[in-house]
Amino acid sequence: MRVVVHGLTKEFMTGQGKTVALAGVDLEVRDREFFGIIGPTGCGKTTLLHIMAGLEKATQGGVEFVGEKRTQSLVSMVFQDAALMPWRTVEENVPLGPEFRKEQRSMMKRVSQYFLEMVRLFDFSGSHPHELSGGMKQKVAIARALANDPEVILMDEPFANLDAQTRLLLREELLRIWERDKKTVILVTHNLEESVMLCDRIAVMSAAPGVVKSIVSVDVPRPRNFRSMRDPDFGRCMEKIWELLRYDVDKAMRESRPSQTTEQQKIGRGKQSFTWWE
Ligand SMILES: Nc1ncnc2c1ncn2[C@@H]1O[C@H](COP(=O)(O)OP(=O)(O)OP(=O)(O)O)[C@@H](O)[C@H]1O
Ligand SMILES: [Mg+2]
Repeated sequence: MRVVVHGLTKEFMTGQGKTVALAGVDLEVRDREFFGIIGPTGCGKTTLLHIMAGLEKATQGGVEFVGEKRTQSLVSMVFQDAALMPWRTVEENVPLGPEFRKEQRSMMKRVSQYFLEMVRLFDFSGSHPHELSGGMKQKVAIARALANDPEVILMDEPFANLDAQTRLLLREELLRIWERDKKTVILVTHNLEESVMLCDRIAVMSAAPGVVKSIVSVDVPRPRNFRSMRDPDFGRCMEKIWELLRYDVDKAMRESRPSQTTEQQKIGRGKQSFTWWE
C-alpha cells in the first residue's frame, strides 16, 4: 500500500492563537517501504502520523492510501509509550484489532500466540504489563500492531524511552520481522543511527512549521544488523542527514527557549545542573 501525502497543512487553534504545525507537506511512501521521518522537536512529526492514522484532521490537503487492500485493516500505530491495558495479561493485550472486528475467541488466542512468538515473548503470555520491562512492553505494543493485520504500521519514536542496548536489540527484532512480513512502515525517530539502520528512505523535516526539506535514500545493503553500522555508506548517510538537520535543530532549540524557561530553569537550578537554556 502506498501512502501519498499532498499539500498537507495543519493548524491548531489554542488560547494563545494559531499554531501552524505543518505547512504543506508532500511525500510519497512506497508499497512495503520502511520509511523514516526525522526532524527537530515540534516540527509536526507526531501530528503528521496522527493525521495518517485518522486521529487528527488536516486543515488542508490530505493523506491517501493507494493500492489494493490485502489485509484486515489499514493502519496500526505504535506510540512512544506502549500504552498497554494494565488490567489485561500480555496475551489479552495483543489481539485488540481482532477483538474490535469481533473475531472468534479461539482465533484471537491463536493470533496472540503467533505474534508473541514472533517478538519472542510467548513465555510471558500470562504476565501483566507491570511485570514487564520497558523493552518487553514495547515488544507487546509491536505484537499488538502486527496482530491488527494492517497495511501500514505507523511508529512514533517507539524506542525513545528505552536504554541504548535494548534499543539495539529491538531494532534488530523489528528488522527481522519486517524482512519476513514486509509491510509499509513509517517510523518517526530523533535518532539518526536508528533511521539509517532501519529505513529505505528518510524524510528530513524543517523546523516548525514543518515541511519536508529533503528525502535521503539509504544505500546500506539489506539484510541489516548491528554490523551494518561499519559500512562506509552508513556513516556517509548519517552525515548527510545531520548536515540537513543541524541548522533546523538549532533553530528549534532557540525558538522553544522562551516557552520552556520558567519551569525548566527552576528544575535545572534546583538540581544544580546546567542545561543549554540556562
Ligand atoms: N492538540 C494540539 N493542540 C495545539 N497544538 C498542538 C497540538 N498538537 C500539537 N500541537 C503543536 O503542533 C506543533 C507540532 O507538534 P508535534 O507534536 O507534531 O511535533 P513533533 O515533531 O512530534 O515534536 P517532538 O519531536 O517533540 O515529538 C507544536 O508546536 C505543538 O505545540
Ligand atoms: Mg512527537
